[in-house]
Amino acid sequence: MDGFNMFLKNCWYVAGWSADYGRALKAETYLGENIVIYRTEDGRPVALENACPHRKLPLSDGKLVGDAVECGYHGLTFNCAGTCVAAPTQRGQIPRRAVVKSYPMVDRYHLLWIWMGDPDKANPDLIFPVENFDNPDWGYTDGGVMDINCNYLWVCDNLLDPSHVAWVHVTSFAGAGTDDAPLDVVKTDRGVVVSRWIYGQPPSPYYAGIVKFKGECDRLQHYEMCLPGIGLNKSIYSPVGTGGPDSDPIDLTLINISYNFMTPINGDQTRYFWFQHRNTDPHDKVISKKMNDGAYMAFEEDRAVLEKVHAGMKSPSTPFIDLGLDAGAKQFRHLLAGRIEAEGKA
Ligand SMILES: [Fe+2]
Repeated sequence: MDGFNMFLKNCWYVAGWSADYGRALKAETYLGENIVIYRTEDGRPVALENACPHRKLPLSDGKLVGDAVECGYHGLTFNCAGTCVAAPTQRGQIPRRAVVKSYPMVDRYHLLWIWMGDPDKANPDLIFPVENFDNPDWGYTDGGVMDINCNYLWVCDNLLDPSHVAWVHVTSFAGAGTDDAPLDVVKTDRGVVVSRWIYGQPPSPYYAGIVKFKGECDRLQHYEMCLPGIGLNKSIYSPVGTGGPDSDPIDLTLINISYNFMTPINGDQTRYFWFQHRNTDPHDKVISKKMNDGAYMAFEEDRAVLEKVHAGMKSPSTPFIDLGLDAGAKQFRHLLAGRIEAEGKA
C-alpha cells in the first residue's frame, strides 16, 4: 500500500484536547516531527520543534522562563516564534542559526489545532467546521483520545466502511442491513461519503435507549472522510416511513454526528480524537456519558482489528484482495495521495 509515510502538511490537525495543555512542556510527535507544546502566561498555545539546535536535546526537558523555553543543557532560550533570545554561554552573542521551527496553533471546539505546513498559509478559517457547535439544542459528549498502533489510513478506511459494524460492533452499531444493504459512494469537494438508508428495522443497540419513539425506524449510515483525516459519521434514526434521501427530519428524528479526528503520529501510529454531537437532550449528562462510554468501547473494538490489519498488511506473505465495500476508501486514498503529490510539487 502506498503513502504509509506521506502526510498532507498544509492543513490543520488536532494536536490535543485544549484542556490537556497548560503551563507545562509536553512532548508530542505528529507527522513524524517532534514538537513541544505549552501555553503562554496569558493562555495562548505554542508549538515549537522539540530539539535544541545545539545538540538536539528535547526542549521539553528544559523549562519555561515566562513565555520562552530554556534548554536544559546550556540555557539557549527560544521565544514563541522559535527565535533564540538568550545564549548565556556566548556572552550575549546569539548564534545566527540558533532557531527552532514554530507551528501555528488555534483553540477551537475544545480542541487544540496545529498547522504542520507553511506557517504563512495557516488560515484559521480552514479549520474543519463543526456545524451546530454553538446550537443550544444540541448536546455533545466529552469525547476522548486513544493511540492506535496503525497507519492513520487504516482508520480512515474503517470510517468509510459502514459494513464492518455488522462484525466488529455487534453489541452497539450492528443491525439488520448493516452487512449487505447497497452503498452509495459520492465524492465531495472535501472528501468522500459512503452512505446507505436501511428501512423498517429496529434501532441498533447503541441507539435503542436514545431514540424518542417506539418501533421500527428508517436509518441512515453516513460515513464521510474529509482531508486530511477527519471522519464525520452521521447516524439518522427516524420513525419507519419518515426516512430516506428525499425526506426532511421530523421532530422525532434523532441525528447523531460522531466526529473523528485522526492525526498521524508517524507512519505506524495514529492519535485518534473524537466526540459526538446530537440533536437531542443537550444537557442530559447521563445520555452523554452512556454515549461516550459506548463509543469508547466500540473504538477499542476497532483498535483491536486495525492494529492487526496494519501488521498483516505491512508485510503480507500472500496477495491481498479488495472488496466492493472498499470503493469509498480507495477513492479517499486516491484524493489524498493527489493532494500530497501536488503539495510536494508546489
Ligand atoms: Fe468501527
